[in-house]
Amino acid sequence: MSTQRRLLVTAALPYANGSIHMGHMLEYIQTDIWARFQRSMGHEVVFAWADDAHGTPIMLRAEKEATSPEKLIERMHAEHLKDFEDFGLSFDNFSSTHTEMNRALVERIWSALKDRGAVRTDMIEQYYDTEREMFLPDRFIKGGCPRCGAEDQYGDSCESCGATYEPTELVDPRSVVSGSTPVMKKTEHYFVTLSTFSDSLKQWIRSGALQDEVANKLEEWFTDGLRDWDVTRDSPYFGFRIPNTEDKFFYVWMDAPVGYLASFMELCDRHGWDFEDWLRPGSNAEMHHFIGKDIIYFHCLFWPAMLEGAGLKRPTGVYAHGFLTVNGTKMSKSRGTFIMARTWLEHLHPDYLRYYFAAKLGSGLADIDLNFEDFRYRVNADLIGKLVNIASRSAGFIHKLGGGKLAAELPEPELQQRFVGEHPAITEDFEKRNYHSAIRRIMALADEANVYINEREPWKLAKQAGREAEVVAICTQALNLFRLLMSWLSPVIPHTADKAAEFLNTRLDDFSRIGEPLLDHAINKFKPLLTRVEEKQTDALIAASRESLSASDNTPNTEPEQAGKDDNMIQFDDFMQVDLRIARIEKAEEVEGADKLLRLDLDLGEMGRRQVLAGIRGHYEPSELDGRLTVVVANLEPRKMRFGVSEGMVLAASGEDGRPFLLSPDIGAKPGMRIK
Ligand code: 2FM
Ligand code: ZN
Repeated sequence: MSTQRRLLVTAALPYANGSIHMGHMLEYIQTDIWARFQRSMGHEVVFAWADDAHGTPIMLRAEKEATSPEKLIERMHAEHLKDFEDFGLSFDNFSSTHTEMNRALVERIWSALKDRGAVRTDMIEQYYDTEREMFLPDRFIKGGCPRCGAEDQYGDSCESCGATYEPTELVDPRSVVSGSTPVMKKTEHYFVTLSTFSDSLKQWIRSGALQDEVANKLEEWFTDGLRDWDVTRDSPYFGFRIPNTEDKFFYVWMDAPVGYLASFMELCDRHGWDFEDWLRPGSNAEMHHFIGKDIIYFHCLFWPAMLEGAGLKRPTGVYAHGFLTVNGTKMSKSRGTFIMARTWLEHLHPDYLRYYFAAKLGSGLADIDLNFEDFRYRVNADLIGKLVNIASRSAGFIHKLGGGKLAAELPEPELQQRFVGEHPAITEDFEKRNYHSAIRRIMALADEANVYINEREPWKLAKQAGREAEVVAICTQALNLFRLLMSWLSPVIPHTADKAAEFLNTRLDDFSRIGEPLLDHAINKFKPLLTRVEEKQTDALIAASRESLSASDNTPNTEPEQAGKDDNMIQFDDFMQVDLRIARIEKAEEVEGADKLLRLDLDLGEMGRRQVLAGIRGHYEPSELDGRLTVVVANLEPRKMRFGVSEGMVLAASGEDGRPFLLSPDIGAKPGMRIK
C-alpha cells in the first residue's frame, strides 16, 4: 500500500495583459496531466494558480485602452479562466497576484530577507523618459545595435546579430513609450544578495529537484558568480509598493512566484488546511513547479533563495519544458500558426490537443513541434482508429445479446492480467513526465485489444444461434481492456474519459480499481466519444488564426525576460527553406481578363520551365521583359488562380504607389543558380 502524498502543483502564471496561446497551453496541459495523474494515484493534489498581474506592460496597456490596470486584469482574468475551464484544466484555484493575500505574503518574505541581512541598497543609473516621467525597462528603449549597427533594436539585445548589451550602449536611444530621447537618471534600489544563499542553493540544485541539464546550466551560472538581484522598480509602476518607501515598488518577478503560495493560501483559508505545515522546511508536503525553459533563473535561483530566506520549504521539483513550434517553425501570425486557445476551441476538440501534446512530451527540455499533418494522423489513428473503436465495436452486442450487462466472468483473465501488469510501467512514466512513453505503451496495448476482437470476430458469432453467451463474453473482455486503456488516458483526455465513464457506468480516474475487472455490471448506451479530425478543420483553424493578425498589437507587452519570443523574426533555418533561384523570363504576355497579371514563362536552368502569374501588368511592357533575368521563389507551392496555375513567385520591391521594381542579378548570373 503506497502512502498518500501531499502535492502542491503549479504552472507558470500567465501575464494578465495577453490572451492564452498554444505555447501557454503546452505547459498547462503538461501540468494538468500530472496533477490529474497524481489524483488518480490517490494522492492529495492542490493545483494552485493565478494571473501574473503586475508590471510596466500591463500599466501601459491599460493606459492605452483608457482603462485602469485593475479593470484590465479583471477582464483578462475572466478570459483566461474561461479558456482554462474549456480545456479541462483541473486547477483548484485560479487567483491573481494582485490580491491582499499576496501583498501580505510578499511583505512577510521581504521582512524576513531584511532580517537575514540579505537586502542591500545601491544607487543605480537608468534611462529615464522625461516626457512620460518614468524609468524605462530595457524593452522600452530602442536604438541602434552597438555591435552591428542594425536600427530599431531593444535595449537588451539585438535581434539582427544576437548581441546582448546594456541599454546605455545603444546608438541614438529613444523611449518606446513617448519617442523622446531618454536621459540617465540616478535612483536608489534594493537588491537581494543572492550570495547569502550560495552554499545552500548549490546543495539544493543537486538535491534531485531539477533536471540534470538544468542543474548543469545553474552550475555554470554559479561559476560566473551570482549577481545581486535588483527587486525595485520606481513609480509609476503597477505592483506592490515596497513598505516604508514613497515611490518604490516590488519588481513583478518578486511577487509573481509568491503568487503560487498566495493562491494556495486562499485554498487553505477556504478549506481549513494548515499552510504553515505544508510550507515548513522538512514538511513531507511537496511543491512542484512546471515552467518554460526561459524562466529557469527565476525559479531555480531567486525563488528558492526567497523561500529559504523566509524560512519556508524550497521546491521539491522544478520542471522546465521546451518551446512550442508549429509546423516546424516558430509560431507566426502571418503563417496562421500563432494560434490562440480560444481559436482552437472554436475549431477543434480540446482533447485532441491534450492527446497530441502528451504523445510528444518527454521529461526533458526539447522543443515540441505541433505538425498538423502528424496531428491529424495521430488523433485519427490512435484515438479514433484504435481506442474508440474497441468500445464502439463491442458495446452494441452487450445491449443486444446481454441485456446491457457485462458477463460474470472474463473469458481470458490472463490477457486482462497482462494489461494490468503494465500498470507500474505506465504510472512510472507519468510520474517522471515521460508522457510520450506512457502513450506508446497504452497504444501498443490498444493494438493488442483490437487484435483480440479481430481474431474472435464477435460480429460473425452473433449471427449464429446459441452463441450469444460467447459474444457477450468476448465483448465483456474487450470492454474491460478498453476500461483499462481509458483509465490510464483519463489524465490526458478527461472530456473523453468522462463520456467513457458514463458509458461504462464506473469511475475511470481512480487507479486503485485497476485490478478489479467490471463483471456482471450494467453499462449504459454507447454514444460516440470522439470524431475524426478532418483536414478542413485544421485548415480553418489556421485561416482563422491568420485573420486575427490585423487585430494584433505591436507595442511591447512582455517583460524583458520574454525577449526572443517576438514574432517579427524568423529563424535562419526558416530562411534557408526558401529556395531562391535566378530565372530567365523567356516570354511575358498579358493574361486575358486580368488587369494586373502578366503570365511569365520562366527558364530555371536545370530546374526546368515554370509558369508564374505576376501582378506587374501595367508597369512593364511584356516585350521589354523577354530575356530578362530575375529572382524567383522556386519552392513555393503551386497556386491555382482564376487565370491558371502559378508555379512560383518573382521578386520585386514595392514602391509607395504600388509600383513594382523587379529584381535583377549582376551580369554573369545564369538561370537556375541558387541564391544563398
Ligand atoms: O514568463 C511569464 O509568463 C511569467 N508571467 C511567469 C511567472 S511564473 C511565476 F513566477 F509567477
Ligand atoms: Zn546587432
